[in-house]
Amino acid sequence: MIADHLARFARLELVPTATPLERLERLSAQLGREVYVKRDDLTPFALGGNKARKLEYLAAEALAQGADTFVTAGAIQSNHVRQTAALAARLGLGCLALLENPIGTADRNYLSNGNRLLLDLFGAEVQTVDNLDHADAQLADAADHLRSLGKRPYVVPIGGSNALGALGYVKAGLELAEQIKQSGKTFSAVVLASGSAGTHSGLALALAHVLPDLRVVGVTVSRPDATQRPKVEGLLQRTADLLGVPVPDGTTIELWDQYFAPRYGEANAGTLEAIGTLASHEGLLLDPVYTGKAFAGLLSGIRNQAFAGEGPVLFLHTGGSPALFAYHSASEQR
Ligand SMILES: Cc1ncc(COP(=O)(O)O)c(C=O)c1O
Repeated sequence: MIADHLARFARLELVPTATPLERLERLSAQLGREVYVKRDDLTPFALGGNKARKLEYLAAEALAQGADTFVTAGAIQSNHVRQTAALAARLGLGCLALLENPIGTADRNYLSNGNRLLLDLFGAEVQTVDNLDHADAQLADAADHLRSLGKRPYVVPIGGSNALGALGYVKAGLELAEQIKQSGKTFSAVVLASGSAGTHSGLALALAHVLPDLRVVGVTVSRPDATQRPKVEGLLQRTADLLGVPVPDGTTIELWDQYFAPRYGEANAGTLEAIGTLASHEGLLLDPVYTGKAFAGLLSGIRNQAFAGEGPVLFLHTGGSPALFAYHSASEQR
């Protein structure tokens, strides 16, 4: 059983209980299709989000190694860096963050509000870099430098997305499968944002084992299908290898690419519409970089009847709303 394999890995408990699975009453009525949301935006740590789950496994390894500093990287508005910096603060560790400006903006909110503001509060040391095109090497160099200063760094990869970090979403997938079984419903699909790929890979692996008929749809938010697909497939295989479980026959990686434009970190009209729709119908917040695009995919999928059957559609809400304050409101963009 995949759960037994997972139980062998050390875990620092940051998400002690299952995140809620909620039915969206008003939106379901309007769309004529039931929509549920799995509230991983409510992971109880530093304004929530999916990274808490990956950090449960990564931080356990860091502490076992006697690390005194996290080294990580991401966009200036990275949710991952925010949660990593917060965890460093909670554990009394240092945090060095390499930050890039992926949209080349000089906007003051992007440069200093939202997640970036929180990094200062958490006491992270920030180094700005021109780009993160060779992130693994850049992180390794930064760690070497810290070692030369007598520190004991632990490198947290971009998005927390290596096989160890993806275990967080294997665990989340098992948790979700249990909630779905208890609901007594047959869900048609789960929809989520697919970025650095740990969330998608871990969830798809877990569900392929315990709920193989449930379709998993990843909406691209960081790169197009052609480069995202090998990333997700490769990480799914490495996660299975780390766990010592097979990738079940018939496991498919489904990616929807048409909600991604113009590029990572920049919303399109559909993203803004999705954010506005969920906020105005349910009082729930998405973000312009990840969940807004994924939810736009869910809404069009329902409108275009892309989800076979009549079962509910489930949205994995991975957080990100602090980035709302780094962008401008839809009314100002009109
Ligand atoms: C709010 C939010 N949703 C989704 C994702 C995508 O998850 P992953 O990077 O595991 O693909 C991220 C990643 O940074 C995120 O911050």
